[in-house]
Amino acid sequence: MTNAIRDFYQQDAATYDEQRWVTPSGKQAAADSERLIEEVLDEHNVSGRVLEIGCGSGRITEKIVRRSSETLLVDLSSNMLDFTKARVQEAATGPITTHVASAYELPLETASVDSVVSINVLSHMETPADFMSEVARVVRPGGSVVLNFPIWHSLFLPGALLVKARKRAFNFDVYSRWYSSREVRGLFLDAGITINKSYGQYYVPRAIDKFDVSNPIRRINEKARAGSMLSKAVAPALLIAGTQTTI
Ligand SMILES: C[S@@+](CC[C@H](N)C(=O)[O-])C[C@H]1O[C@@H](n2cnc3c(N)ncnc32)[C@H](O)[C@@H]1O
Repeated sequence: MTNAIRDFYQQDAATYDEQRWVTPSGKQAAADSERLIEEVLDEHNVSGRVLEIGCGSGRITEKIVRRSSETLLVDLSSNMLDFTKARVQEAATGPITTHVASAYELPLETASVDSVVSINVLSHMETPADFMSEVARVVRPGGSVVLNFPIWHSLFLPGALLVKARKRAFNFDVYSRWYSSREVRGLFLDAGITINKSYGQYYVPRAIDKFDVSNPIRRINEKARAGSMLSKAVAPALLIAGTQTTI
């Protein structure tokens, strides 16, 4: 299955940004999401030696390299890593090291990084507990972890049920799973990572992003960022900031 995901993203690397975030709704949702992630990186002190797992085409990496003394990038796709390194090199404040590797077997020493970030990757994990224990292994005690998870009991419930049944993403033939918020809490607890704060994230599924829903998306993302419980309760994704607390 990992090979199928790798092959998918190897082909996707050249067109990833062109195909996504292109309509007004898609652009609005991506901008909201990136702004939220940047705030969370600030608030939860993501700095030092930072590992990003599944960097893809580097839109989050751009924010990470500006705040880290060293950036380590892991992705299954060498094309994604090449693309990202070229994209972010100039903005980087420290060295960037890339590893073509699986998140299930990170080629890094135990407790060797200060922070781990992984965005829009957990949907591809068939055994997320293995992913979480690798994250917990490589981050030092007290280090920060920022991850996001698609949530099925949310505004997009019908689509989520379809993904759940097919184990496939909406528009793509690639493995995808959505989580319950309870399952996510259990994954953190079992891995020994304390959840400090969670945030609702809204995006627009590509099946409907041709309709301009950018204004409602912007408003609901603002409410979720301001801490509205209702907006968080039905958000199709949760962004979670945690701390490695296993000693
Ligand atoms: C949906 S993209 C997200 C890219 C980027 N984080 C973003 O938000 O724009 C998922 C990325 O995770 C990588 N990926 C998926 N499964 C992986 C695994 N098991 N190990 C390492 N990378 C993985 C893919 O190759 C792809 O580049």
